[in-house]
Amino acid sequence: MVEKRATIILIEGANLNLINLRPKIYQSKFSNEEIFKKIESLFNLVYFQSNYEGEIVEAIHLIEINRIKEFQNRENENCLNESFIDFFKNIESSEKLSNFYNKIKNENIIGVIINPAAFTHYSIALSDALEILNTPKVEVHLTNIYKREEFRHKSVTVKNVDSIISGAGNFGYYLAAEYLYHLTF
Ligand code: DQA
Repeated sequence: MVEKRATIILIEGANLNLINLRPKIYQSKFSNEEIFKKIESLFNLVYFQSNYEGEIVEAIHLIEINRIKEFQNRENENCLNESFIDFFKNIESSEKLSNFYNKIKNENIIGVIINPAAFTHYSIALSDALEILNTPKVEVHLTNIYKREEFRHKSVTVKNVDSIISGAGNFGYYLAAEYLYHLTF
């Protein structure tokens, strides 16, 4: 049997889709495409970006539910209950989340890298969603949030991840991927 290639998920929060329009402090030496290519030398990479807090919360739910399903498939169990079935019905109404689910479905997901962007500083909902997620998790910030305005010093999400990389530009995504590789292999 051919082993499935390990997959990692990179989630970016609000305004990171327009990175090139943002202040210089956010610009990195390499383009995201270049960094993603480097990550793909280690893992299969699935990318998800949203400007909506709730959409990211639901993407995280999908990762966890998929993880439970994969585990149950392996153990020949099936105890996904009714509430999960309703949850999938909800997801079907969002094209973006359905597409995301199709990409992660049946994958061997070994970790999540998340840059929650501004949600970092206030989203208890996102923090609680990360708490549910049982994979290794790394929070990444392009900038060094501790060197910036005071309101950026606090991360409400960091308590529910394993580690944080802040201030290495988008190279931080690659560093996080290397860390996940080191954890897994
Ligand atoms: C950021 C830092 C946040 O304070 C900010 O709101 C962002 C990006 C970073 O990557 O440095 O949008 O997470």
